Amino acid sequence: MSRRRLPLVALISGRGSNLQSIIDAAGDDDLPVEIRAVLSNEPDAYGLKRARRAGIETRVVNHRDYESRHDFDAALVNVIDGFEPGLVVLAGFMRILTADFVNHYHGRLMNIHPSLLPDFPGVDTHQRALDAGVKEHGASVHFVTPELDGGPVIIQARVPVKKGDDADALAARVLEKEHLIYPRAIKWFAEGRLEIDDKRVLLDGKPSLDQR
Ligand code: GRF
Repeated sequence: MSRRRLPLVALISGRGSNLQSIIDAAGDDDLPVEIRAVLSNEPDAYGLKRARRAGIETRVVNHRDYESRHDFDAALVNVIDGFEPGLVVLAGFMRILTADFVNHYHGRLMNIHPSLLPDFPGVDTHQRALDAGVKEHGASVHFVTPELDGGPVIIQARVPVKKGDDADALAARVLEKEHLIYPRAIKWFAEGRLEIDDKRVLLDGKPSLDQR
């Protein structure tokens, strides 16, 4: 008997390698989701090609066509809600979203961020990690709240910082892990195993970060 698949919408701005890892996991039947649509604010995002290749509907909502962040976000909500998703995932979506948008998807909006949050929220995380001289770096999947990169973390993956690393080398090492942890976090959500308890995420009733 086929399992019910969780309807999902993904938002991207660029290359879409995380999107690809989700498409691949869903295609292998590892992940009980149905990717209903991929939206991009950038008309030329390579991730749109990946989606079309996989037969997934795409939409462009170009932020340059809107006078305010509020208008842009309202247009996004309109398009996203037309697909009736149970989960919305940000996969390299490079626009800051308004609190109204974030609150509308409370508890069903995820992001992947290339650092071990709460370290290095924001941009240029790899260079900042190198500049800070940390020995370990990584990536985090978290629920999105109005605080930028501040929502409860679902899963993290760690990588060593190696001698001679530049930001690109470190980014590549982190990205490999991103492609593992995003589908895993989405799978847990789709299986109904995640809850938010105050600022922590519980997986099967226990703090998810203690269960790696
Ligand atoms: C990833 O490093 C992700 O963590 C960050 O933006 C990058 C997107 O890469 N939010 P891709 O478009 O998924 O290849």
